[in-house]
Amino acid sequence: MLRVAVMVSGGGTNLQAIIDRVADGTITNTEIAVVISNNYGVKALERAEKAGIPGICVSPKDYSDREAFNQALLDTVNSYNVDLIVLAGFLVVIPEQMIDEYENRIINIHPSLIPAFCGTGYYGLKVHEAALERGVKVVGATVHFVDKGTDTGPIILQKAVEVQQGDTPKVLQQRVMEQAEWKLLPQAIDMIANGKVCVVDGKTVIQE
Ligand code: GAR
Repeated sequence: MLRVAVMVSGGGTNLQAIIDRVADGTITNTEIAVVISNNYGVKALERAEKAGIPGICVSPKDYSDREAFNQALLDTVNSYNVDLIVLAGFLVVIPEQMIDEYENRIINIHPSLIPAFCGTGYYGLKVHEAALERGVKVVGATVHFVDKGTDTGPIILQKAVEVQQGDTPKVLQQRVMEQAEWKLLPQAIDMIANGKVCVVDGKTVIQE
């Protein structure tokens, strides 16, 4: 059984997709051990509570400096004995020590087709604003392993989504979530839980 920590910052619709797909058996061999938020009072923590999953807030506001916060984050994850960390809209830079300790065991969902519209400053709605500003016709989402760069780790899954005439950032964000993110992230977790993903020379190899 793959033990997963899901890390969140806000709404938690990707968390909800994972909860629902574990419940209906689409994600197999997986248990969500804990949900960790860096913000108090977010909807994602409500979703965890409703599903009977431990929900914990580790807020930088409660620590004197970044180092202390990073240590608390790592200690919290470690205390749940997890095999995989899933960043589901977690808008915090992951501490280097955590990346070292969980090499190729942290995955992230990013709302674009990496390497487009990714890296520092590209998160949430900003990604969709930038895509519309550029006038691209196809966008999408990517699930990737987390390394020390920003959105640079080995890519696991990607799915394209069409931009439509008159899209606003919010409308586009919703379509990318519905058509790509909420499917890709559960699919990636199921693949990892069943030993179908490995990393060779900085790229993933997927077993069918
Ligand atoms: C999602 O669109 C996710 O891809 C994005 O934040 C949103 C969180 O929504 N993540 C990033 O931009 C990471 N760089 P959610 O809380 O409803 O799942």
